[in-house]
Amino acid sequence: MITLKDVQDAEERIRHIAHVTPILQSGQLSKLCGNHLFLKSEHLQKTGSFKIRGASNKVINAVENGGKYVTTASSGNHGQAVSYVANNYGIPATIVVPENVSACKVNAIRAYNGKVEVCGTTSKERLPRAQAIANKENGVYIPPYDDPFVMAGQGTVGLEILNQVENIDAIIVPIGGGGLISGILTAIKETNPKIKVIGVEPYSAKDTYLSLQNKKITAFPATTIADGLRTSQPGDLTFPVLMKYLDDLVLVSEEEIRQAFSFVMERMKQLIEPSSATTIAAAMFNKLNVQDKNIVTVISGGNVDLGKIHQYIGNTM
Ligand SMILES: Cc1ncc(COP(=O)(O)O)c(C=O)c1O
Repeated sequence: MITLKDVQDAEERIRHIAHVTPILQSGQLSKLCGNHLFLKSEHLQKTGSFKIRGASNKVINAVENGGKYVTTASSGNHGQAVSYVANNYGIPATIVVPENVSACKVNAIRAYNGKVEVCGTTSKERLPRAQAIANKENGVYIPPYDDPFVMAGQGTVGLEILNQVENIDAIIVPIGGGGLISGILTAIKETNPKIKVIGVEPYSAKDTYLSLQNKKITAFPATTIADGLRTSQPGDLTFPVLMKYLDDLVLVSEEEIRQAFSFVMERMKQLIEPSSATTIAAAMFNKLNVQDKNIVTVISGGNVDLGKIHQYIGNTM
């Protein structure tokens, strides 16, 4: 298990790379949700998502230990982040992506000089491929979520939130493989355990929900529009952190994600990813069952294929 100290060390290590992202608010959104909403805006983060935090913590550690080449498997955001950091440190990176990856994510990986290899559609196919390339070419594999350095790096989102928002009642976090939420859980629960941390998954990607119900890692084939959350099961390292600390996990529908995406774009003029819109959807559709509370929703990224936006639009409220 990672500790608060690991997250604090990560904050120190990545300070020169990752932005401290702003907290945005909308009176209309808070009114609609019946709570005071604070949006932790990682869509305004370097490379367009929180992934730069874990990726830089791990890549810098690899470079410090003599690493000269890195690989990873990613639906896009982690791949962008790894190629950005590797490029910054002057080492090559190979990113294994799924066949249905967004064009904008591949373009960004290439723009950071990352080499792209396409492999299958599931993380079960991609992960071993990226590991095999690293083994063959004497590189370091940078896992997308199931790694102590990656988890600790993502946890720096939690430390920043504690500095930026007072009297927090709950933090809502999207769950893919669980790297982001396990880091945030460690930072929050080891600092102020009274703050509730609530995970969100789409119904159509409810692997962690099922795993928590079954008290063991359970796979579920994901089909959601929230492409960052299409991981088929939680990680071996992330899952125990969720079992230990998570207060609740709520599920949102594809239409609820679309309506949240549309609200944020139309009213707040922010372009966020469907994966991030899940946290707004949880608040908008009263999945949290609370009123008048201070709720932080983690807007995890904003990398969207512009040609696909019409698929993400729902009715606005
Ligand atoms: C935008 C976005 N949000 C959330 C997640 C989920 O993060 P994790 O896999 O660490 O749970 C991802 C993962 O790719 C993502 O890209």
